[in-house]
Amino acid sequence: MVVPSHVAFQTWEARGESLDSVEKRIHDGVPLAHLHRRANEYLDTLEILFPESKPKPGGQILEIGSGVGYVMEAAARRYAPRRIVGLDVASGMIEKARERFARDGVDTGIMEFVHYDGVDVPLPSDSFDYIYSVASLQHAPRPFCFRVLSEALRLVKSSGAVSIHLLAYSHFENYMTPDQFALEIDQQVRGRAGHWHHYYSVQEIDKVLRYGLGVEQPHVLEQAGSLFFSFGKTRRNVPAGFGTHTQQQTKTPQALRKALSLPKRERNLPAETSNWTKAGRRVQQLWTRGLRLPQI
Ligand SMILES: C[S@@+](CC[C@H](N)C(=O)[O-])C[C@H]1O[C@@H](n2cnc3c(N)ncnc32)[C@H](O)[C@@H]1O
Repeated sequence: MVVPSHVAFQTWEARGESLDSVEKRIHDGVPLAHLHRRANEYLDTLEILFPESKPKPGGQILEIGSGVGYVMEAAARRYAPRRIVGLDVASGMIEKARERFARDGVDTGIMEFVHYDGVDVPLPSDSFDYIYSVASLQHAPRPFCFRVLSEALRLVKSSGAVSIHLLAYSHFENYMTPDQFALEIDQQVRGRAGHWHHYYSVQEIDKVLRYGLGVEQPHVLEQAGSLFFSFGKTRRNVPAGFGTHTQQQTKTPQALRKALSLPKRERNLPAETSNWTKAGRRVQQLWTRGLRLPQI
């Protein structure tokens, strides 16, 4: 039996809770009648921001944090994969997804679920063409979020892509109050089960992907309180000895940047600026076309 490795994951087990109540609770108040639309809006957004990541028909897809399966259902319909896997840290949520599929008459022929402990994903490396996650990883404690991003990098094929949505600090501007913040932090420092939230910045995710996971040229974008980012398996060229104690002491940051052979246009620019070049244009188009971002 797989045991979830953190108290933050308990709330998703939803033991003894009706499907109806779970559906209301986990989608942040989005009315039930809009859940299919919400799922499609997330996929639209990922496609518009990262068109090169859109999977071809017949591929293998993984959703991280599939909940009751609305986005999985929309992805199965839209991308016609040969297999789509819902990976979740809560076995109770997987049961609820199966219950919902049965209730709504969803064809589950190509669908599978995998339960894991939030650390080690029991699936083979290089096996997915497209891995995505929306409205999920902001609920995992930071190291668990980073851990599953590194698992995604392991699981994706070299020709595939990983596209992720989670919450940005700019979410605070419209939703956070000191009282709410105090409650949020209180439940986390006391290790109480509940709906935990974590927030990220473009710079943090960019640095984690580039230097923590060794990804070459990730795209990280911030819009309307959310972060959207996409990356693939291409690894950065890290010179031998980089990051060792003596090297760090003897080389200046400028010399290190040179040693890493970053493209010229990326040198001396903050990550946000360099990443925005291509994808930023897409966001502008998105806004001028009046596309709404999904509710979170
Ligand atoms: C708010 S629901 C979102 C479900 C679905 N992505 C959607 O948008 O409809 C969050 C889901 O993510 C799962 N989850 C949370 N942390 C996770 C992690 N580290 N790895 C995988 N699943 C996780 C929860 O168990 C829950 O099913």
